[in-house]
Amino acid sequence: MSTPPPTDDTVAGIRARVAAWRAAGERVGFVPTMGALHAGHLALVRTARRSAERVVVSVFVNPTQFAPTEDFSAYPRDLAGDLSKLASVEADAVFAPTTTEMYPQGFATQVSVGGPAIGLETDFRPHFFAGVATVVAKLLIAVGPDVAVFGEKDFQQFLVVRRLVADLRLPVEVVGHPIEREADGLALSSRNAYLSPEERATAPEIYAALTEAALAIRSGTDAQAALSAARGRLAASGFVVDYVELRNAEDLSPAETPPHGPLRLLAAARLGRTRLIDNIPL
Ligand code: PAJ
Repeated sequence: MSTPPPTDDTVAGIRARVAAWRAAGERVGFVPTMGALHAGHLALVRTARRSAERVVVSVFVNPTQFAPTEDFSAYPRDLAGDLSKLASVEADAVFAPTTTEMYPQGFATQVSVGGPAIGLETDFRPHFFAGVATVVAKLLIAVGPDVAVFGEKDFQQFLVVRRLVADLRLPVEVVGHPIEREADGLALSSRNAYLSPEERATAPEIYAALTEAALAIRSGTDAQAALSAARGRLAASGFVVDYVELRNAEDLSPAETPPHGPLRLLAAARLGRTRLIDNIPL
């Protein structure tokens, strides 16, 4: 078994480690996560490795992106398990800060993003992207990577980060990685662990409904009719649907009628107490 990567729990620690690599002329890749790692996260590490000699992974369950009613305390945590998975993909270092390292006493700064952050997730989780943008900005400043990899599983988050990096002119290349799925189509997610066996059996419907709607829209069905059919299919399977929407893939602005250009179909729906999100290109 390979040895786990070294872990830094302070900004100064990870910064010094990365500075040494930089001084040796090595490129640095970065994959931010909240831990409870699965094959989707590990695929991001492999992608980062393709454009960098060194890869840093952060593991930090960020309290500011959870509403008081959400699952912050229940969110799965398994740093030992994460470290052995990261050893298997040869990550070079883990940044696992404490909450006070990231949010010192008196913390009073927030990064807020408009544009792609407006609507969709924000309609249901109003504080979510301010929390994500703040922590991602802090992580990028702490680690200082050449390239950072984000999953398209969280497509809106990916666009928000791309906007943030462009607007703040952070010197990092943001790379997207396609969604990794189970054989039955369910997108891998740390939250899938919450699903009961019955819910797990129903969960792939979200991808099936999106695929069906995409096919219908591509073959000329009116987009609004196809989106309603997808919402109906999910409700009939027992989901409470937050949204199923067709948007422009570049900035998430509403798709024109008839739709054209690169598009993305995005959905969020709850199954029991678990909220699932998914999306597909069109
Ligand atoms: P987390 O949910 O742990 O996800 C970390 C990264 O893994 C994100 O970029 C996410 O899109 C990607 N990812 C998760 N499941 C995936 C899948 N099935 N296929 C491909 N990529 C997948 O997203 C977050 O953490 C946080 O919001 C974070 C960016 C770390 C800020 O706290």
